[in-house]
Amino acid sequence: MPAIPNLILIGPMGAGKSTIGRLLAAELSRDFFDSDHEIQDRCGADIPWIFDVEGEAGFRDRETQMIRELAAREGVVIATGGGAVLREENRRVLRDSGTVIYLFTTVEQQLKRTAKDRNRPLLQRDDRDQVLERMFDERDPLYRATADIVVRTDRRGPRSVVNEIVRRVER
Ligand code: S3P
Repeated sequence: MPAIPNLILIGPMGAGKSTIGRLLAAELSRDFFDSDHEIQDRCGADIPWIFDVEGEAGFRDRETQMIRELAAREGVVIATGGGAVLREENRRVLRDSGTVIYLFTTVEQQLKRTAKDRNRPLLQRDDRDQVLERMFDERDPLYRATADIVVRTDRRGPRSVVNEIVRRVER
């Protein structure tokens, strides 16, 4: 664990990890890092390009490397990609690096929030609802096993979520 633990947001696509992470970092005067943005910056290409050219496995390798680097920082807020918990190594590295917060949302909310999205390769298909249901079944137990805190983000605004996180981590 770093001297000043990090605050790490995990959860599915459309849970609000980036928006909430940015607000939370501002609220606590901490630096904010978004794993997907960092991967894209380093690669000089967007996520659909990485999936096209390197496949999902190539993206996951980049993600594991980025998580290792971000988790080595101190006292920062980190937003991870929805699939970050798939690898056991990532789960361990994240847990060892600070307080892990699972931003829980429903598939119904995810469908609304990702409706017009073009930057998430795993959702560029007609059966998005079934894809998200399957992901929920596979990943919800992994998010729960990794997290110290679970916070719901459906049916409420990001500001209210941030207030709850601040209250619970400062306890
Ligand atoms: C993914 C989620 C995305 C991104 C990639 C894969 C996933 O991040 O990492 O498209 O497997 O759930 P967000 O959760 O920020 O959308």
